[in-house]
Amino acid sequence: MKMIKTTIVLIALSLSAPILAETDDDTASDTPASAPTPAPAPATVEEIASGVCAGCHNADGNSVIPMNPILAGQHAEYITKQLMDFKATDNETPKRNSAVMSSMVAALTPDDMKKLGEYYAKQKTTPSQVPADEKLLEMGKILYHGGNIEHGVPACASCHGPNGSGIPPHYPALAGQHTEYTMTQLNLFNMGDRSNDNTVMQKVLTRMSGQEKKAVSAYIATMR
Ligand code: HEC
Ligand code: HEC
Repeated sequence: MKMIKTTIVLIALSLSAPILAETDDDTASDTPASAPTPAPAPATVEEIASGVCAGCHNADGNSVIPMNPILAGQHAEYITKQLMDFKATDNETPKRNSAVMSSMVAALTPDDMKKLGEYYAKQKTTPSQVPADEKLLEMGKILYHGGNIEHGVPACASCHGPNGSGIPPHYPALAGQHTEYTMTQLNLFNMGDRSNDNTVMQKVLTRMSGQEKKAVSAYIATMR
């Protein structure tokens, strides 16, 4: 735990270094040598969401950056579970290993994670933009609702719902998610780098082609 905190402080310092370096040389001598006192830890869930998470997920959880997931409207329990899975315990690698998110959750308590889940779950979803490739979307639609019987790919709809709203608490909502983010997760499951789902998704992914992954990710973005 101590190691992780130290690492985060080091990362934070190295990130802020270029900014400090950009300050005007003339004023540099006026600034005290000691580092500025860090702001007090954010207290409420709204403060955490707007102060820590908003830069990448937006204050209401509707990320507009395709690599960062939209959190708004996701099931509360699922968000809480993911936050727990990102957290490293003692010397073990987190169950869901993401350098960015693992450092984000390091300072969160289980109660923060529960409240953050509830906070994002009640935000209204602004879905991602719809990809334009009609042929690809059609292929994705067929796979999502019917699977690929020949290759043993189950219909995504059987666990994630016919309209992509998922089934709480275990099956996440997918509808309207950014294509790029979904595609990244499918690749992580496929390579075994994401293994926090008791291998359900890993098994599904070993049977899917690259084109199928692309198609279903695009189709998911269009679901409402
Ligand atoms: C620097 C950018 C950044 C910040 C800041 C950030 N995130 Fe993330 N978040 C990401 C990225 C990138 C992912 C995808 C990680 C992956 O799977 O590799 C992610 C994934 C997530 C997920 C998983 C969503 C899903 O559908 O599985 C949750 C939940 C989440 N973030 C919540 C938060 C919360 C809460 C905060 C603030 C405490 C936060 N994030 C701060 C970039 C960020
Ligand atoms: C047998 C049930 C089942 C089937 C079928 C299934 N999934 Fe999943 N999926 C899950 C579970 C469970 C999780 C949550 C894993 C966790 O807890 O982190 C998940 C997670 C995901 C995620 C990660 C979402 C996020 O934001 O973190 C994506 C993307 C996904 N599934 C896409 C698909 C696609 C596409 C298909 C069809 C090809 C599919 N799933 C079929 C059970 C299933």
